[in-house]
Amino acid sequence: MSHPLSNRINSLPVSETLAMAAKARELKAQGKDIISLSLGEPDFNTPDFIKEAAIEAINQNYNSYTPVDGYVELKEAICVKFKRDNNVDYSPNQIVVSTGAKQSIANIAQVLLNSGDEVLLPAPYWVSYSAIATLCEAKYIEIPSSIESDFKITPEQLEAAITPKTKMIFFNSPNNPSGTVYSEKEYRALAKVLEKHPQIFILSDEIYEHINYGTKPFSFAAIENMYDRTITVNGLAKAFAMTGWRVGYIGAPEWIAKACTKMQGQITSGTNCIAQRAAITAVLADPSKVQFMVDEFKSRRDIVLDLLGKIEGFKLNVPEGAFYVFPDISAFFGKTIRNKEIKNANDFSMFLLEEANVATVTGDAFGAPNCIRLSYAASELQLREAIKRIKEVLS
Ligand SMILES: Cc1ncc(COP(=O)(O)O)c(C=O)c1O
Repeated sequence: MSHPLSNRINSLPVSETLAMAAKARELKAQGKDIISLSLGEPDFNTPDFIKEAAIEAINQNYNSYTPVDGYVELKEAICVKFKRDNNVDYSPNQIVVSTGAKQSIANIAQVLLNSGDEVLLPAPYWVSYSAIATLCEAKYIEIPSSIESDFKITPEQLEAAITPKTKMIFFNSPNNPSGTVYSEKEYRALAKVLEKHPQIFILSDEIYEHINYGTKPFSFAAIENMYDRTITVNGLAKAFAMTGWRVGYIGAPEWIAKACTKMQGQITSGTNCIAQRAAITAVLADPSKVQFMVDEFKSRRDIVLDLLGKIEGFKLNVPEGAFYVFPDISAFFGKTIRNKEIKNANDFSMFLLEEANVATVTGDAFGAPNCIRLSYAASELQLREAIKRIKEVLS
């Protein structure tokens, strides 16, 4: 029997990431020793100095509703951070704090997109971008890239994808799932194209900015004539190992910030008060305080690249940020291994789960059907064991 659900929810595809997670759980419940490399969260504890700030907030009786757009002290701290890390000037009335960067992105989409608007998604892209655009009845247009271009799009591709209906581009560097980091020069080249199309807004998702191993990430809003139409999204989840605390934020033109506050005011109200107080300490902390996590991620990245690079059929680039590798595994398509036919990345990912007991995520979920994503937010021991198993089942 079909239930009377709305067209809105029916229009949403089921998340392939969640399907994989469900299958991994099922196998675990059967007693299988599954190594999960499908997670998008740091495997560190939240640093003590942030936990202490939260405990202090509880003891100081922070328990009431907060302003919808966040405590003013937090918004001021975020302005300091934007200037310090991104060389972008925002004032507190341009900041909105939300329940995770995911809510920030959903707010922006809700307040800017109308039915039929087009949203450009340089692929590969984070899974929720397409879903959020779809919920707003917008049409998302993928701009493909490949491992050969280091998963970057070119200004020519951007120009070709723009139509009179293009309203936004969702841009993400360092990128989930590819780990790609665009250079300042590459940002400026894309901005040159956008300059010619003043109707286009840029959602610049910079949530992985601190997790980078080379080129210091740049910000769209730092480009003078992009500032007025860029919404900079960031959050505490990745850099501070605070995924469950749920704090994200935007810096945006004031009229967009106001609209996001209005939207949030009718849906969730302000973000959790304790998490916000702790966030003040986190964003004001010098990024060097979390450098140990970045160093550890870099060392794991190098191990993973080295070990995967020894498996025939894995084509790799060198991700400069985030904590994922995104190999092109299309060399396996059309092969039958252990009596299992591998037609696509989905089959390959399932094969690794069932045969090697290693959970990964199919690139289909990110608009890159030749690839799979492996997260190296796992211990070195687990990473070595997982890749050993992968090698064994493929040999
Ligand atoms: C690119 C990207 N943006 C935003 C988010 C959402 O972050 P949050 O946990 O703050 O909602 C994620 C989380 O995986 C992400 O990978």
